[in-house]
Amino acid sequence: MDFTLTEEHIMIRDAARDFAKTELLPGVIERDEKQEFPKELIKKMGDLGFLGMMASPEYGGGGMDTVSYVLAMEELSKVDASASVMVSVNNSLVCWGLDTFGTEEQKEKYLAKLTTGEKLGAFCLSEPEAGSDATSQRTTAIDKGDHYILNGTKNWITNGNSADFYLVIAQTDKEKKHKGINAFIVEKGWEGFEVGPKEQKLGIRGSDTHSLNFNDVKVPKENRIGEDGFGFKFAMKTLSGGRIGIAAQALGIASGAYELAKTYSKQRKAFGTEICNHQAIAFKLADMHTQIEAARHLVMKAAWDKDQGQNYDLSGAMAKLHASQTAMDVTVEAVQVHGGNGYVKEYHVERLMRDAKITQIYEGTSEIQKIVISRSILKD
Ligand code: CAA
Repeated sequence: MDFTLTEEHIMIRDAARDFAKTELLPGVIERDEKQEFPKELIKKMGDLGFLGMMASPEYGGGGMDTVSYVLAMEELSKVDASASVMVSVNNSLVCWGLDTFGTEEQKEKYLAKLTTGEKLGAFCLSEPEAGSDATSQRTTAIDKGDHYILNGTKNWITNGNSADFYLVIAQTDKEKKHKGINAFIVEKGWEGFEVGPKEQKLGIRGSDTHSLNFNDVKVPKENRIGEDGFGFKFAMKTLSGGRIGIAAQALGIASGAYELAKTYSKQRKAFGTEICNHQAIAFKLADMHTQIEAARHLVMKAAWDKDQGQNYDLSGAMAKLHASQTAMDVTVEAVQVHGGNGYVKEYHVERLMRDAKITQIYEGTSEIQKIVISRSILKD
């Protein structure tokens, strides 16, 4: 078994680390405070290839493997989880979904702009009454021959206002339940499509999360993804890969907080010595490091499974379940290691602690991951 990263992996990881340090770190506290993420940073991430890492090169993508992607996600998330969730949604949900299931025309028209950062994507599944229970879609897409008419509301949509292209899941035939669900590409600015108010969030405050309203929006039939009724499977398959990206985000949040705590513990003195010399702190660091390494192995295994063409529903769900719990545990301890300083913004760990929580909620709560895991291990 070879755990060595290739030279290319190291180069990508270092490029993401450098970008996080030079471009994301300055201003991260202010963006969190003001709940805003500047468009120019999205543009820079696009120019550097972070927005379409795994997508096919013929559509402007980087053609990289999933291991490269999770390495980059970890580095970006160590510093700014708001930036990394935008990267994650655009890469694993929107670009991957279109690259894998889109038509040639859809890829040329939409994917080629999403991979470069010229346009940003959003993935719209959740609704006021359909979060975890994703088959209970209330948004409707009525077939009118050469187009569909879309009506309904989507909730908690990442990149809700900053996106240009939206993948929207809707119910076409209620009788058929999940087999009557479709996925569509919807453009911002189409008549009847309104972006709702911005959510005031606990964490990842630099990413914009909105509700969306669709009032008789006319969607051309060529904007449906896949065959009629493929929408639920499209969402599930896309989310399976998305969960690997969010697991890497959680890993990054945890390792960012751990690194800050370790550095602080070697500088801060109490009772006549640096606090890392007290077992109360050293043992915390040992636990944090061990938990992070376990999470990293699960994340890498899930990414590797995907790259090998193996099923990654189980390994992705396990990676997300464990890495998101790690993010919570480690960030809480990192605040504790910092003592009073941990509770103020300039030391960064309180933000990482707030950011960590969402990794247990979006792209399927921890309970949803347990459903996926238990169904998988019990089926044979
Ligand atoms: N791949 C392919 N097909 C899949 C699949 C997968 N991973 N998972 C399920 N399916 C298929 C099943 O095979 C089944 O199809 P058939 O009837 O043809 O056999 C169909 O989908 C229905 O499956 P289930 O009966 O298992 O469906 P369920 O109602 O029990 O739900 C669930 C399963 C796993 C709980 C699912 O509803 C789920 O994942 N819910 C969570 C939704 C979620 O993650 N939302 C996050 C929103 S997006 C987001 O957060 C993005 C962001 O902003 C960051």
